[in-house]
Amino acid sequence: MILAAGKGTRMKSSRPKVLHRVAGAPMIDYVLDTAAELQPRSTTLVIGHQAEQLRAALPTRRGLAFVVQEPQSGTAHALQTAEPALARSTGALVLLSGDVPLLSANSLKDLVNRQQTSGAAATVMTAVLERPAGYGRIVRSGERIARIVEDRDATPSEREIPEINAGIYAFALDGQDNVFEALRGITTNNAQREFYLTDLVAIFCQKGRRVETVTVADPNEILGINSRAELAAVSRIVRDRKNAELMAAGVTIEDPATTYVDGAVEVGADTILHPGVSLEGRTTIGEGCEIHSGARIVDSRIGNRVAILSHCVMTDAIIADHAQIGPFAHLRAGTVIGAQAKVGNFVEIKKTALGARSKSMHLAYLGDATIGEDVNIGAGTITCNYDGQKKHPTTIEDGVFIGSDSQLIAPITVAKNAYVGTGTTVRENVPPGALAVSAGKQRNIEGWVEKKKKRN
Ligand code: UD1
Ligand code: CA
Repeated sequence: MILAAGKGTRMKSSRPKVLHRVAGAPMIDYVLDTAAELQPRSTTLVIGHQAEQLRAALPTRRGLAFVVQEPQSGTAHALQTAEPALARSTGALVLLSGDVPLLSANSLKDLVNRQQTSGAAATVMTAVLERPAGYGRIVRSGERIARIVEDRDATPSEREIPEINAGIYAFALDGQDNVFEALRGITTNNAQREFYLTDLVAIFCQKGRRVETVTVADPNEILGINSRAELAAVSRIVRDRKNAELMAAGVTIEDPATTYVDGAVEVGADTILHPGVSLEGRTTIGEGCEIHSGARIVDSRIGNRVAILSHCVMTDAIIADHAQIGPFAHLRAGTVIGAQAKVGNFVEIKKTALGARSKSMHLAYLGDATIGEDVNIGAGTITCNYDGQKKHPTTIEDGVFIGSDSQLIAPITVAKNAYVGTGTTVRENVPPGALAVSAGKQRNIEGWVEKKKKRN
């Protein structure tokens, strides 16, 4: 069971807390993925605050059930809400927090093993923190855990305790330690006037039942996100891990602190990432590429030995080996760049294939176009693909030369090896090997400047 019904007050947000993104993915995705690794019999998400927004935003996952907690009267109440859904279940209940995204499946397996082999009433995951402020503290009597005290309810000496409650537990669903039976003993006698799940520990201990603890080796795993600062800190950890993984696999990252690579991104060996690069979504990058500063690459597939120069922005683009892009190029959805092709500054490309070795080096808009191999697109070329109502296609065949400052009024075809003269408005198809020109004859009016000066 995953708790995610709370308001997330400290986020000061209109969006449900667990949908805030940690290094590119919603916080709750991490928790759901970790839960799935345990192959549980069922997964229940307790939602409440902004329940409908949350439910709508979550992709349908196999076996994921929702329970709505209304009002949100505390973590114990959240678990109680799910009693009907789990009434006939047996075995162990693993309780996770939707705002603790870095927990590893291995730590969770340790928790479940301890619960199952010890026969304890409950097992609590703990961590020892340098700065435990804000978390519930583990109060021990001798070796054994006796109770958990919330930060707000703790005495000054209890606040000194560095061992904290991670908010992750295993409970028994049946037998004498049935968690739902034990929950009935909880009251709201605390600073927040809420039903605290953490009171279960004292309840079991007072009945002479044993509560076990499992302490995580890496305290980063159990960091909870309650504020924007914690969101940033946890995102930083995820990004650092990803960068470390890439560097271990042979990627050069010049400045890891300013390099943002989402979890699912793949980068080949000997690729160099310069400072300030963002690689997002389902992007893959081949081997021996160089991605320069300020590039933002989203959901794109880049081949081997490609150079992406500074400040390129691309989404949903496919780029073949040895191509060179940028600086300042904008490749939009449906862009396909052929091998060894070159795209230069201030070129915008959308739903367009640019063939192998073709070039568009400066100031162009290429939309809804199919461009062959060895084509040269001059500076200032525009495919006029939109008539105000519909988009139309442009076809530019192999070996074509488009002179600078030309407009191609779609639908239009410029056939193989044709030339389009500088400053041509192409309104009719150009046959293979032809030269298209549309500009009128130039006139020079002698002495015009002098005459103009005298007039003023
Ligand atoms: C909780 C623990 C604290 C622990 C910390 C670890 C309690 C009383 N305290 O404190 O000991 O150190 O987690 O991160 O349990 N939720 C509901 N319904 C509610 C209230 C909360 O579903 O009525 C959910 C929240 O959405 C959240 C989780 O439970 O996912 C924890 O609640 P939160 O308010 O963040 O508790 P903490 O103060 O962090
Ligand atoms: Ca929390």
